[in-house]
Amino acid sequence: MYGPNLNLLGSREPQHYGTLTMEALNARVAEAARAAGLEVEFFQSNHEGALIDRLHQARTSAQAVLFNPGGLGHTSVALRDAVAAIGIPVIECHLSNVAAREHFRHRSLLSGVCAGVISGFGPESMVLGMRAAASLLQGTGR
Ligand code: DQA
Repeated sequence: MYGPNLNLLGSREPQHYGTLTMEALNARVAEAARAAGLEVEFFQSNHEGALIDRLHQARTSAQAVLFNPGGLGHTSVALRDAVAAIGIPVIECHLSNVAAREHFRHRSLLSGVCAGVISGFGPESMVLGMRAAASLLQGTGR
């Protein structure tokens, strides 16, 4: 799952997010899922409520969620509550290293209710997130 503005990957602030489009990134994530024997669905929205609805849906249709919440991760209590409510592992992913950027990006309201956080590896963050999800699900993660 991807939150606001991530549909613009490829052209948006490439110094932070690279030049890979969301379609190209998803192809890499899908390949990592296939390699781990998992099925993957993709969802992006610029709307907080739509993301919350999709998290609720995942509660009964998915085993885990890989979530780049975009800027909403720094601000949304409602998204945090949704992550906490669904009872399946959510892995928070950021392409940029949010800890090395502006102060307001250092706080994530989601991290405390996520299974783990991956940040700073560019598009590879999502691929690493998929591998982390696979090892969590296969019981080899912790
Ligand atoms: C981001 C980091 C956020 O701070 C930012 O608002 C984004 C993208 C990332 O992937 O690095 O939209 O989640």
